[in-house]
Amino acid sequence: MKRMLSGIKPTGQLTLGNYIGALRNFVKYQDDYEMFVFIANLHCVTVYQDPKELRKNLKDAIALYLACGLDPEKSTIFLQSDVMEQAQLGFLLTCTTYMGELNRMTQFKDKLAKQEKNITAGLYVYPSLMAADILAYDADYVPVGDDQKQHVELARDLAERFNNRYSPTFTVPEPLVAKVGARIMSLTEPTKKMSKSDETNKGCIYLLDEIPVARKKIMGAVTDMLAKVQYDKVNQPGISNLLEIMSSLSGEPIEDICARFEGKGYGEFKKAVADVVCDTLQQIQDRYHEIINSGQIDKVLEDGANKARYIAHKKLMKVQKKIGIEIRK
Ligand code: TYM
Repeated sequence: MKRMLSGIKPTGQLTLGNYIGALRNFVKYQDDYEMFVFIANLHCVTVYQDPKELRKNLKDAIALYLACGLDPEKSTIFLQSDVMEQAQLGFLLTCTTYMGELNRMTQFKDKLAKQEKNITAGLYVYPSLMAADILAYDADYVPVGDDQKQHVELARDLAERFNNRYSPTFTVPEPLVAKVGARIMSLTEPTKKMSKSDETNKGCIYLLDEIPVARKKIMGAVTDMLAKVQYDKVNQPGISNLLEIMSSLSGEPIEDICARFEGKGYGEFKKAVADVVCDTLQQIQDRYHEIINSGQIDKVLEDGANKARYIAHKKLMKVQKKIGIEIRK
């Protein structure tokens, strides 16, 4: 069975973008792959987080993993910081990454372009740690949204570099990016990605948004003057985004949705999108409330960490021997 690995970095509440671009795919794939899904809590602290909020976000994220359908019997679910081998491999891979490669990472470049102050060294080297997350487990596939593809490509380059420099050690992973829903856009600025750190809070739907709040956000989504429900990302980015959201969640092809709303107003279309989104959120939230205080989270994390640690430890030992820093047989 091929192995798959992915993670989410809960620097805030999980969003509909995280769900469509990543989480729901993890759930779909867990029957056919050996699945490893973790919470990237080390990646979270590359930017300062209020500790109390961070704890809540992490617990909520695990509960949401389960509420969205990840099954601990099928998938290994764990916290990144519980497998220290991952961080250690991260350091070793940082030593095989060139600064030029990190300088080219879009997420880092965006932060620089925005002239954000006090960018941490952790944020800069984060793609090397992400490579370690993937390579520690010899993942064949990494299901991610569009924005993380570049990081998985770096992981491929580092795996190949290491394999060539020493001898075959790492599986070279492949990013898996869905055709529809890989980049859900902000509802208020549909040319920008929907993101956890949405400043106005109106462009982003959080999985734990109250249902009337989520409905209001969809009804207030930016559209255009063309008055036609059609998929045209250049001229109608807002409508195209709503079409992607609806199609991803309902499974109805975009062309069929367009045909169904031919000659109808945007109000009617948005109401249908809001219905689909709110149904999805309601189902997730019902399960989330059952899980969050049930006591099962600690057990899931402990079992997951034990399974993950065993694999990552073996890989780290192998790597350390090849590099020459481990001298015992
Ligand atoms: P993060 O937390 O930013 O995002 C988690 C996943 O959600 C996807 N995603 C989206 N997909 C569609 N539309 C959006 N608007 C949207 N926003 C986010 C992301 O592409 C991602 O798949 N560095 C990673 C976490 C990570 C990781 C890993 C992932 C750390 N180590 C190893 C895979 C493998 C991150 O910050 O994702």
